[in-house]
Amino acid sequence: MRSVSLGSLDVSRLGLGCMGMSAFYSGAGADDAESIRTIHRALDLGLTFLDTAEIYGPYTNEELVGRAIAGRRDEVVLATKFGNISHPNGGVRQYDSTPANIRTALEGSLRRLGTDVIDLYYQHRVDPGTPIEDTVGALAQLVEEGKIRHIGLSEAGAETIRRAQAVHPITALQSEYSLWTRDPEAEILPLVRELGIGFVAYSPLGRGFLTGGIRSLSDLDDSDFRRQNPRFAGDALQQNLRIVEEVETVAREAGATPGQVALAWLLAQGDDIVPIPGTKRVARLEENAAAADLQLTDDQLSRLGAIAPPVGDRYPDMTPIGR
Ligand SMILES: NC(=O)c1ccc[n+]([C@@H]2O[C@H](COP(=O)([O-])OP(=O)(O)OC[C@H]3O[C@@H](n4cnc5c(N)ncnc54)[C@H](OP(=O)(O)O)[C@@H]3O)[C@@H](O)[C@H]2O)c1
Repeated sequence: MRSVSLGSLDVSRLGLGCMGMSAFYSGAGADDAESIRTIHRALDLGLTFLDTAEIYGPYTNEELVGRAIAGRRDEVVLATKFGNISHPNGGVRQYDSTPANIRTALEGSLRRLGTDVIDLYYQHRVDPGTPIEDTVGALAQLVEEGKIRHIGLSEAGAETIRRAQAVHPITALQSEYSLWTRDPEAEILPLVRELGIGFVAYSPLGRGFLTGGIRSLSDLDDSDFRRQNPRFAGDALQQNLRIVEEVETVAREAGATPGQVALAWLLAQGDDIVPIPGTKRVARLEENAAAADLQLTDDQLSRLGAIAPPVGDRYPDMTPIGR
């Protein structure tokens, strides 16, 4: 597996999203042994960039990743996130990027992950109640102390990114980007490129939709977050299947799977874009890893790029997301 650079951090061309092993999606937490085998297989294949967050579970996903990387910490570029749990307020789910909360959150993440340093520490969502300068100032202090190596943001808007970068170099922005989520292309991608910030594409398989494996809500458990997601709920899922059909057409031509085509399209958007597909199964990890070697033709890329946007927002309620 090739390496690429996110700002000044070298990472594998594809990462592994660990969230669904423990939270939000069907089967989360059902087979931790297979999840751990999946992480081990990722490391064996050179997908060493692992993504977790304290809110996943909460806490259980970091514990799982910590168990999986025990004895192999040096092989891993370890990324986690803070800011969706407020420890000073009793551990409730709330945006909190105050310096005091960051310190408490980091100590917990280090303990659960069984390490003394996080390679890439992201603010998970912008906290409207805390100036980004205060947040990045606190993170810069943690870099000085050697507890984190790089600073990241997630889902931040242009102004926040510029203000953050003025305090300390930001290594990566993690936001949703895939064939059915093209939002970052208008303003955010040009901006991070101008500033030398890397881009980590989360949900690169469209939360599984682009693989063709989700064709009706009955494919999802009752507790699955996607049942509340406007792109999956109601009539939207059936209407959005036309997107999968176009991906499947290219997949047949290319002798690949639809998921591989979705990842190869993202990889073709630039070496500064690192997708982190999520899976908790070894076989799918192997399938996704092979996308790093899939070259689509210019014609295939432009047909994929011309797919019309989906029906439905990315989240049930877009308004509270701090920008
Ligand atoms: N910063 C943020 O706010 C944010 C938000 C969401 C996610 N993330 C991060 O991004 C990572 C990836 O995003 P995601 O997990 O939301 O979505 P994703 O990677 O687009 O898709 C994951 C889904 O696709 C399924 N899948 C994976 N490979 C497959 C294959 N080859 N064939 C068929 N199905 C396949 C997975 O099921 P199985 O697991 O059962 O294989 C899972 O349901 C997460 O793990 C998390 O670390 C960050």
